[in-house]
Amino acid sequence: MAVERTLSIIKPDAVGKNVIGEIVTRFEKAGLNVVAMKMLHLDDDKAGGFYAEHKERPFFGDLVSFMTSGPVVVQVLEGEDAIAKNRELMGATNPQEAAAGTIRADFAQSIDANAVHGSDSAESAAREVDYFFAADEICPR
Ligand code: PPS
Repeated sequence: MAVERTLSIIKPDAVGKNVIGEIVTRFEKAGLNVVAMKMLHLDDDKAGGFYAEHKERPFFGDLVSFMTSGPVVVQVLEGEDAIAKNRELMGATNPQEAAAGTIRADFAQSIDANAVHGSDSAESAAREVDYFFAADEICPR
């Protein structure tokens, strides 16, 4: 299996619940290494740019408003099959449909306040990592 990088965001609801450490521990226990990390308070431009592909969807305004409502923690996770592994750890987008034991089942409330984001493909991962991190901010092990 290939070693990949993926972008993870711990969203404002999870930061507000003080579960940053519990979420990062799940990544680490699953064999994913945190190779970059920072806390940011996104503004409308930065959040809107990140979710630009959803601009025409009816929830876009709510999504940007939620993602700018408080600080987030953005990370680059590295490891074998990191993109799929992170998606598996997160669980389904809608926490009501997320499998037991996943991050969203345990920490998320609703489809908008759903605790974490993870890149959904190799192309998204490359774009999303670049969106938040310069090359010299990433520290491979
Ligand atoms: S997916 O898996 O990316 O295809 O999920 P999708 O349903 O397309 O949702 C994309 C992101 O939009 C968020 N979302 C919403 N926010 C606010 N209100 C509503 N109704 C809503 N529906 C979806 C969802 O949490 C996804 O965020 P990310 O950060 O990509 O997980």
